[in-house]
Amino acid sequence: MMIFLLLLFLFSCITFNLCKIALRNRSHSCCYMLHYECYKGTEDRKLDTKTCAELLMRNKNLGLQEYRFLLQAIVNSGIGEETYGPRNILEGREATPTLSDSLSEIDDIAFDTLDALFAKTGISPRDIDILVVNISLFSPAPSLTSRVVNRYKMREDIKTFNISGMGCSASIIAVDLVQQLFKIHDEVLAIVVSSESIGPNWYCGKERSMILANCLFRSGGCSMLLTNNGSLKGKAVMKLNQLVRTHLGGEDDAYNCCIQMEDKVGHAGFLLRKGLTKAAAVAFTLNLRVLVPKILPVKDLLLYVIHSYGRKKAKVGGGAPSAEAAGEGLNMKAGVEHFCIHPGGRAVIDGVGKSLGLDDYDLEPSRMALHRFGNTSAGGLWYVLGYMEAKKRLKRGDRIFMIGFGAGFKCNTCVWEVTRDLADGNVWEDCIDSYPLPTINVSPFLKKFSWINDEGRTDVDLTSAFNKV
Ligand SMILES: *[C@@H]1O[C@H](CO)[C@@H](O)[C@H](O)[C@H]1NC(C)=O
Ligand SMILES: *[C@@H]1O[C@H](CO)[C@@H](O)[C@H](O)[C@H]1NC(C)=O
Ligand SMILES: *[C@@H]1O[C@H](CO)[C@@H](O)[C@H](O)[C@H]1NC(C)=O
Ligand SMILES: *[C@@H]1O[C@H](CO)[C@@H](O)[C@H](O)[C@H]1NC(C)=O
Ligand SMILES: *[C@@H]1O[C@H](CO)[C@@H](O)[C@H](O)[C@H]1NC(C)=O
Repeated sequence: MMIFLLLLFLFSCITFNLCKIALRNRSHSCCYMLHYECYKGTEDRKLDTKTCAELLMRNKNLGLQEYRFLLQAIVNSGIGEETYGPRNILEGREATPTLSDSLSEIDDIAFDTLDALFAKTGISPRDIDILVVNISLFSPAPSLTSRVVNRYKMREDIKTFNISGMGCSASIIAVDLVQQLFKIHDEVLAIVVSSESIGPNWYCGKERSMILANCLFRSGGCSMLLTNNGSLKGKAVMKLNQLVRTHLGGEDDAYNCCIQMEDKVGHAGFLLRKGLTKAAAVAFTLNLRVLVPKILPVKDLLLYVIHSYGRKKAKVGGGAPSAEAAGEGLNMKAGVEHFCIHPGGRAVIDGVGKSLGLDDYDLEPSRMALHRFGNTSAGGLWYVLGYMEAKKRLKRGDRIFMIGFGAGFKCNTCVWEVTRDLADGNVWEDCIDSYPLPTINVSPFLKKFSWINDEGRTDVDLTSAFNKV
């Protein structure tokens, strides 16, 4: 049985490589990233420890237990003093957001990054053929894509797509959409705008499993310019090698583990259930099973297959799936140099890191992005990438692994190849020298609220559930 598996496996590797060679010169199957531009909020929107604590205290629905739980979550979150919040929340209007609050939040992010994108690449908005706007939780009419087309007076034959509700892994989904479109449209330019609307989605109730999302979520976003025009290859920063999407929505538990709903008293918010850990682990395992054969050299691949075979045999007796087991026997470093993990929270980063056997150096970009910008949902991955670039880590030929999880439940991954040495300071320019911080545990919150960890221990909390991811 084992030998048969190995033979089958070798055979598929060989056919796969043959196909790869055959496809190499098909320009339209390529997806080049010409530029990406992350959003950096204005100074007046910075959220420091004090403001954060005040914000929590403002919610009159909370009791002492809830405050403690929340502070504990923040203390352990790995988020620093300098993240950015939406204006209406800073101004104390989280319970009554207006339409113009929501619009201006998105306008700031989308227009700021697009202005910079066009200025830096010298490409005119009228040259753009495809536009994908990806903002999960906010859908005005006319749509946000129309808002962008209107502002930049784009061409009338532009193909626009607005996708919503995709959660944190949205920007990978958007890139996938563009990549698929590239297969049918030759030599085109595409723009992806990826962000999340937080202002109108603040949870004002007291359900613990729902307030958690408030703690980590911050303003941010990113715009990207992609092309399959081979003549622009020389200007590209990266090329997309692989992209794999896994969707577990067919299973009720996975579907329900991270869901937008109203609590008993009618406050809308995001509910994170305990099944999240399991769903993430299963999605991650399934995704790796598809991605890994495409990126690893044969030797490391064999080791992985042998390990997963052994694991499957051992599993017959039962036992919950865990993310840590997902990467057992897997040497990802044989196929990629850099790891870009969605900075959704410390537990997510640590969990994926442990599973793939990554060290502190590999995890530093994700941890620092979480510290500096918080969980910015869909835009998050690009702040991590920005950090790697600002630290001059990205050299020509290096491969970057990106992974995002999102409600659904989804796990999306992709691998980029750097096409020239990168060293742009980008949004990290003014602070990159002060990173990495000596240790991420020195959270400003920890200094001020460290008592919370001693007394709050008896609480059954989601933070520990997250830590197990
Ligand atoms: C693809 O093939 C064409 C000619 O068939 C050649 O001019 C071009 O340089 C090739 N492109 C790559 C990327 O190899
Ligand atoms: C996308 O477009 C549809 C149809 O125009 C619209 O109903 C929806 O609100 C839009 N979504 C977003 C996120 O703009
Ligand atoms: C992008 O769209 C996806 C799919 O609807 C969504 O899950 C994701 O949250 C969106 N991204 C952002 C930043 O809103
Ligand atoms: C591809 O890029 C080249 C170089 O910028 C440009 O001259 C050409 O028109 C582009 N192709 C298309 C179809 O726009
Ligand atoms: C990050 O923020 C998104 C945006 O709502 C949220 O859905 C997700 O649960 C957050 N991640 C974590 C680990 O809290």
